[in-house]
Amino acid sequence: MSISFFTSTNQFVLNTKRTTYIFDASKDRFLRHLYYGKRISEFQAPEDNDYYNFAPYLATLGDRWSTDIFSQECSFFGSGDFRTDALRLRGADGTSVTDFLYDSYRIFNGRYSLEGLPEARVDETTQTLEVTLVDPITKCRLFLYYTVFEKEDIISRYMVIENRGDAFVKIEKCMSLTLDLDRCDYDMVSLYGSHPHECNYQRVPLHHGTQAITSRRGSTSHQYNPFFAICSHKATEEKGDVYGFNFVYSGCFLNEVEVDQQNHTRVLVGLGSECFSYTLDPGDHFCSPEAVMTYSSSGFGCMSRNFHRFVRTHILPPEALKPHPIVLNTWEACLFNIQEETLLQFADEATKLGFDMLVMDDGWFGARNHDHAGLGDWFVNLKKFPKGLKPFVEEIKAKGIRFGIWIEPEMVNPDSDLYRAHPEWCLHVSGREAKLSRNQLVLDMSNPNVIDYLKESFLKTFEDVPLDYFKWDMNRHLTDVGSAYWSADRQDEVRFRYMKGVYSLLQWFREQYPNAVIETCSGGGGRYDLGMMYYGIQIWTSDNTNPYDRTMIQANAMLAYPATTMSCHVSNPKDSLKSLDYRYKVAVGGMLGYELHILKMNDEIKVEMKKQIQQYRDFEHLMRLGEHYSLVSPVYYPYSAYYYASETRDEFLLTVIEKADCKEGKTKLLKIRQAKSNVIYQDQLTGTKYTGESLRHGISFPLLGERDHAEIVYLKKI
Ligand code: GLA
Repeated sequence: MSISFFTSTNQFVLNTKRTTYIFDASKDRFLRHLYYGKRISEFQAPEDNDYYNFAPYLATLGDRWSTDIFSQECSFFGSGDFRTDALRLRGADGTSVTDFLYDSYRIFNGRYSLEGLPEARVDETTQTLEVTLVDPITKCRLFLYYTVFEKEDIISRYMVIENRGDAFVKIEKCMSLTLDLDRCDYDMVSLYGSHPHECNYQRVPLHHGTQAITSRRGSTSHQYNPFFAICSHKATEEKGDVYGFNFVYSGCFLNEVEVDQQNHTRVLVGLGSECFSYTLDPGDHFCSPEAVMTYSSSGFGCMSRNFHRFVRTHILPPEALKPHPIVLNTWEACLFNIQEETLLQFADEATKLGFDMLVMDDGWFGARNHDHAGLGDWFVNLKKFPKGLKPFVEEIKAKGIRFGIWIEPEMVNPDSDLYRAHPEWCLHVSGREAKLSRNQLVLDMSNPNVIDYLKESFLKTFEDVPLDYFKWDMNRHLTDVGSAYWSADRQDEVRFRYMKGVYSLLQWFREQYPNAVIETCSGGGGRYDLGMMYYGIQIWTSDNTNPYDRTMIQANAMLAYPATTMSCHVSNPKDSLKSLDYRYKVAVGGMLGYELHILKMNDEIKVEMKKQIQQYRDFEHLMRLGEHYSLVSPVYYPYSAYYYASETRDEFLLTVIEKADCKEGKTKLLKIRQAKSNVIYQDQLTGTKYTGESLRHGISFPLLGERDHAEIVYLKKI
């Protein structure tokens, strides 16, 4: 049992393999957070808090019992806790004060399902605690959920608000996860960026006041990934306390951290209040998206591996665990200049070189000869494919290669038949000029008629076309968020309903085309999040395929996401074998693909690519399913070193990438601590043998002081 309730103390205890989480329902029906950290078997609840001047209290309870002082499981606006709140409801009387008090609990196997939102998948060990609270005046019930993933050391939090009163209430702020910690000597680690420079690393000490990462862009964004961590000042890859957080959602979010007057830290993860409100009529309920957290007492490496295991086992669809296709993508080679004849030749070459799949990127539909037109018109361009899509795809597949296609369902160009027929179907505010971005507008995915139109178009265009893969793109952020479909009082719901519309269409694709896999993308890593990972096998990590930048982006993305999710392409080797080798060794860190003009490559390059593809197949399972150990972070050093270990520790893939000029001749000792001491390993690429003991002490690695130098060592037990 990972969840227990002790009647003697009124304590709820949630245990995972290496962590414990405790809170109680006090005699006065407040939920008091008590502990989250290393797994423990005994716990002594603290005395009541000290009195603080200005702290509000109920006369009936006495002045030691103020919601502004104690650590809470969920905090409510307006009734005494002045710290940043997790839930704000406005009643029909116009006030926004609530007093939710503990009512009851239930422990059950499995989880509560979030009705159309992505959610962590359960296994036979998953358990959930449901705690019910009631606000006596609005008569709303609040269900707090704690789902425990014992093996992965993950606890997830989400809530359901149900209006059992006889008047409407408006949810004005909704945060799925609250964690109150009784210290503040922490750093905050987060990933910020821009297009196409995602996943830059930031580590700063917490300060008094509120610090936050947020997206108001309608998608999680390149600018702030929803992952973040709070860690002790001295935490390293292998040592120190680290709390990691993430959100299973792909739209606007707010992740807040507040350090308060008591030097305590409050962490909140959720939808926030700026881009969200939601009206609940009597009888209605609202499910929040799910937030997840993990704790590691042994540094960032352990936190990352907890998240990696969790994402692989509980977030990604099952097909993501099978080998991913090694794709040849047309984008950087052809841009919009898609031609049937060229693609057939691409397929011939790709088959010879051992590729699994040819992916036809943008430019195959409507009047899509450039990025000014065509989005929304999901019918094949007959000038480019005179016989239609089906015979073309069949001809490609007859060559012995699978076929994938690019789509961007959420968007419309003003220069499109769709926009001319339905200008009211894009997000806009009546009378205002909606802003363009990449010459496109955003379809109102909160409108069920738009979703129906998209389904009909794709059904028709893809009827009997044997597709194996969709690349689902999204190339701008949301502005002018107004929906012609929803009434004035529900306009603040549109961003959330937009995401639910996107999720419903993604789910429909999965069901309608069960033999095809999905790769998601948003101008690269603009929606690199757990919500999207629920539907697709991988995400196009970044539009940036420069290997130096990619080394950094991939290393930092791995803080929170497993390599299984990272689509990594070799591009533009400029006819240089050395450059090809370097780019390949950077790309093997994730799920390998290529994005280059295969017909323009010389024979030497093609022979080498063929070897690379064969070689990658030998060890790709390590990236897909293995455990990742970072040895040298490119954030701090001009090179990167890491290895993947198989679960049995019989195989390792060690990679070293020099990304800026290192000191020539310098040698670095790289320790493979997971090697088994009584075993002999052999490098499958050079034949060199090592004892496990020597690997644990470290392999000496010469740095050449060259930007384009990278090495991989593939060790296998013999
Ligand atoms: C985005 C994607 C690219 C490519 C183009 C096509 O930028 O990230 O990989 O698909 O769109 O327009």
